[in-house]
Amino acid sequence: MIDKVVRFDRVDSTQDSAKEFIDERRTLAVTALSQDKGRGRQGRTWYSPKGGLYVSLLLFPEERVTSIPLLGSLSIIRTLEEYGFSSLAIHWPNDVLLNNKKVCGVVCERYRDSVICGVGLNVNIDKFAPRLGGATSLRIESSREYDIDEILAVFLKRFSGLYDELQERGLKVKEVLNYISGLGESVEVLTAQGVVRGTVSDIDDDWALLLRDESGIIKKFYYGDVRRLEW
Ligand code: BTN
Repeated sequence: MIDKVVRFDRVDSTQDSAKEFIDERRTLAVTALSQDKGRGRQGRTWYSPKGGLYVSLLLFPEERVTSIPLLGSLSIIRTLEEYGFSSLAIHWPNDVLLNNKKVCGVVCERYRDSVICGVGLNVNIDKFAPRLGGATSLRIESSREYDIDEILAVFLKRFSGLYDELQERGLKVKEVLNYISGLGESVEVLTAQGVVRGTVSDIDDDWALLLRDESGIIKKFYYGDVRRLEW
């Protein structure tokens, strides 16, 4: 389904470059070797030197838009499993953890009738500034380097397969549950409406997070930043 890949050496953000192709009305991927203004979620920046995979998918979904961030995470998990990595988890819905450290982030933005799903994967980066203490890369975890283009090709294949399945039939919740970190744990979810504390109780059929709040009420989240609480 993703049959066109547009490649740049250096851009501000592949999220913005992808927008420039909206009039082509087709699903495509935009990638760059580095980004000067890589963006994360919640206004954060995404460290984007050469050595990472930076890709934005321009999508025109008809169904199940809210599942797309998790689909990005699951496709990265499948890709990394193909490279022999284990100890992978999804920090719902947008982060992929490798050995409990963040190796990948996903951000989805609405743009006109499209959704732009941006994925940043730390591949050959060999060190991070102390403020990015929770981050890691494939190279740090495995002491070898990878062909970023080859990883991109595997990722696009995995994403395309899951995306078609999602659009046609919906995906089984079971497979994603195997990877979700934090089930049963105390967390707080930060949303535009505020912060809710509670315990992660389940993932819904449409991949929303179900949280039991402090008064026992189950609340459903499609978006949000989940932070583990130690209490
Ligand atoms: C996050 O963890 O906050 C999400 C990070 C997403 C980064 C990717 S890299 C490719 C695309 N271009 C961007 O500017 N951001 C996304």
